[in-house]
Amino acid sequence: MNKAKQLIDRLEAQHSLSIEEYEYLIENQSDELAAYAAEKAVALRKQVYGTDVYIRGLIEIGNICRNDCYYCGIRRSNPACDRYRLTEAQILDCAREGYTLGFRTFVMQGGEDSAFSVDVVCHLVRQIKAEFPDCAVTLSLGEFPREAYQAMFDAGADRYLLRHETADKAHYEKLHPAQMSFDNRMRCLRDLKDIGYQTGCGFMVGSPYQTAQTLAEDLKFIEEFRPEMCGIGPFIPQKDTPFRDFPAGTCEQTVYLLSLLRLIQPNLLLPATTALGTIRPDGRERGLQAGANVVMPNLSPLGVRKKYALYDGKLCTGEEAAQCIGCLSRRVASVGCRIVTARGDIIR
Ligand code: 5AD
Ligand code: FES
Repeated sequence: MNKAKQLIDRLEAQHSLSIEEYEYLIENQSDELAAYAAEKAVALRKQVYGTDVYIRGLIEIGNICRNDCYYCGIRRSNPACDRYRLTEAQILDCAREGYTLGFRTFVMQGGEDSAFSVDVVCHLVRQIKAEFPDCAVTLSLGEFPREAYQAMFDAGADRYLLRHETADKAHYEKLHPAQMSFDNRMRCLRDLKDIGYQTGCGFMVGSPYQTAQTLAEDLKFIEEFRPEMCGIGPFIPQKDTPFRDFPAGTCEQTVYLLSLLRLIQPNLLLPATTALGTIRPDGRERGLQAGANVVMPNLSPLGVRKKYALYDGKLCTGEEAAQCIGCLSRRVASVGCRIVTARGDIIR
């Protein structure tokens, strides 16, 4: 058997490889190797989660952001971005609608906006947990000091998503302006985990200046950090950003990496992301067939959905919408999985 398949076998058995070995797997990606990895990834997912796919109701609470990531459509320096901020009442209404639709996890995601202060966020979390005690609350609001993360956790937040974006410091510095710090991003992730959040990291596939080496570092970082969740999706250029002319990441590489992540950590909560569904009509189904086990439909009010434009062409209606959970169920069933109404915590 060839060396790459042997490495996949070892990853399946031991859940660990060296950085050089990960790099070899990335450089030697082929359809055949990806199919080989996907089959093993799906088998491991089945052992832990059966055919269950968890759903999360995504509420995009605002697109005002103090950061200036070069890839991101809601960056501070984009005057073409039409800014909005939901009120607490609007956010609670989204959660109510989501609850009726069957969601038992709400993800509140937004730009780094000082109006969403620690106190405001804590109040929001308490309201949601009081009204929906059987639901998990996930926050995805960027970087905060440890004390702020602790206060939000004490208010009842269960999970926190903060993509590390890249585990390579030099690469991080090419994706972000000097005011943003790789070390602080990593500090945030360590604090979140230490406080007791189910913590999610993640990265874009095919981001500018990414190499097989930086991707191998991402895989090693995830192997060692052991997040509960990991969000990966293709980079997609946004026309009003400095990275407008870079090519998008591919569906093929994204799903291959999803399989490798499943082999690294069989119980990882691994979403088939909106970005994957955006570059390919059946991208999310392919993600599930490669080992993903989470989907995150959009619960944001219809009037703001188009404004949360991290990248061009982002899906936000039709089958992306939480309201169309029936169509989503059929799509998920078409690849042998089943959407379940549950909080969808990690299984240890
Ligand atoms: N393409 C794909 N993903 C993007 N994100 C931001 N901009 C883009 C883009 N142009 C991702 C980042 C961020 C998450 C909220 O969305 O990884 O962490
Ligand atoms: Fe806000 Fe991208 S600029 S995270």
